[in-house]
This record gives sequence, structure tokens and C-alpha cells, in this order.
Amino acid sequence: MPEQAPPGIDTSVATAARMYDYYLGGKDNFAVDREAAERVLAAAPEVRPIAVENRRFLQRGVRYLAEQGVTQFLDIGTGLPTQGNVHQIAQEHDPTARVVYVDNDPIVLVHARALLSTDSATRVVTADLRDPDEVLDAAAGLLDLSRPFALLMAAVLHFVPDEDRPHELVARYRDVLPSGSHLLLSHVTGDTRPQSSAGAAAAYRNTRNPATLRTVEQIAAFFGDFALVEPGLVPVPEWRPDTPAPSEHENIWMYGGVGRKP
Ligand SMILES: C[S@@+](CC[C@H](N)C(=O)[O-])C[C@H]1O[C@@H](n2cnc3c(N)ncnc32)[C@H](O)[C@@H]1O
Repeated sequence: MPEQAPPGIDTSVATAARMYDYYLGGKDNFAVDREAAERVLAAAPEVRPIAVENRRFLQRGVRYLAEQGVTQFLDIGTGLPTQGNVHQIAQEHDPTARVVYVDNDPIVLVHARALLSTDSATRVVTADLRDPDEVLDAAAGLLDLSRPFALLMAAVLHFVPDEDRPHELVARYRDVLPSGSHLLLSHVTGDTRPQSSAGAAAAYRNTRNPATLRTVEQIAAFFGDFALVEPGLVPVPEWRPDTPAPSEHENIWMYGGVGRKP
């Protein structure tokens, strides 16, 4: 039986949000997404643990930020709701914490609305990070952007190709952040497993979200002059693990870090 898609959702082309949902064991994906995701996994089976570790990194990062007193979060490239979403972790620490979620895939809004319908401290917006004015205008509806906030860009910037000048875009966001704000990001690299990461990136070419691998140096440049908090930019499982993590993570070619604006 053909799968029923919500109105306005195109199921003819795979999208990164729905493929990521599939890696994480979610049900908000369609045949086209599962087929594309299986092609990625055939080239690089480690993509599934990378997705899981990335999600854990994001959750530890948000907990860390909440413990630093951060109460405002702008999460760009949210993905589909799963367990331990940003607002749940932030509000566990401070029930008044506010979160604006931004994603350019309309499926995110469809599912997030259902999850968040009763929560006035959380908003979900369909917008593209390549339009910072639109994103920031939408965020200003709930967050006070004149006070420090955390900008989250987990596993999203590799979906911005070089021709869209991702470093200039992130610099625009960094400029807007008040002093004392944080930037959390993660990004895939081709540095440690060039063959399988290139195979995975090639498998994304025919999806709605082609992926670009970047060197660890290029990923570090997204932080500009922000001070990286310990342990710096590292494979995501090594970022402040809850339990001592083994130190060999070549297979996890997703790097993550958190920087603070001076
Ligand atoms: C791999 S998911 C990451 C989800 C979540 N941030 C995490 O780390 O668990 C990447 C998300 O970025 C979104 N995305 C890709 N390009 C985008 C863009 N230009 N603007 C906004 N969102 C984008 C995709 O739709 C997808 O939901």
C-alpha cells in the first residue's frame, strides 16, 4: 500500500531530515528516504553510529549550555523530533528556557507542531539558514536577541555547498550574537576516513540535500574568534562524554565543538 504523505510533502525525492530519522530508528520517513539511506549505509555503515553519536553530542552540548545559564536557544537545522529534543533538555534545567527551531524541510514543521502544540516557550519555523535575516526575524518573535543566546547548528552546515558561502553565512550569525553567547556545531569531515565518507557524500548527491565534506581546519574556521570550550573541536563522542569514551574515533567522522563569543 502506498504511504500516505501529509499535504505539501514531496515523497519523490529523499531529504536529509527524513534519512536522518531513518538512521535513528524513527518512523517519519518514506520509501525514497529509506532507499537513499540504504545506499549511504552500503557505502559507509558507520553513518548510523555517527547519527546516534551526533545526537548524543547535541544533547550533552545543550545540557552543558543550560548549566552555564543559557536560557535562549536558536536551533537551525532541527531535524525531526525524536527523544531528548533541545527544548526538553533545556527546560529540564530551567522550565523558562525558550527555544526557536528552524528547518527548511516542511516535514519538520508538520511533526514538531504536534509535539509542541501546548508549549508557548518553543516555536518552530520553516526557513532557510541561507537567509539569515528571515531566520533572525523569526527568532526575534520569541527570543531576546539583545541578550546572550546559544546558536545550534548541529549536522547542518555540510548541507550548505561552497557556492552558498557557508563561512560568510555563519560569520553573519556570529556578528549578531551578543557577547557571552555560544555557538554549538557539528560537521562531517573527509579527513579521517576519506573513502567511506566520500562514498556516503556521493550517495547524497541525488537527494534534496547534497553533502559537502570539509577538513577539520575548515570546520574550525566556522567558530571565527570564538573561544572553544574544552575539549575543543573533536570527534563528537569525545566532546565531554558522560562516561569515559575510548579515544579512537576515526570511524566517527563527525566533528563537534562549542565556542563562546568574547
Ligand atoms: C542531519 S539533520 C540534523 C538534525 C539535528 N540538528 C541533529 O543534529 O540531531 C540536518 C537537518 O538540517 C536541515 N537543513 C539542511 N539544509 C538546511 C538549510 N539550508 N536551512 C535550514 N535547515 C537545513 C535538514 O532539513 C535536516 O533536518
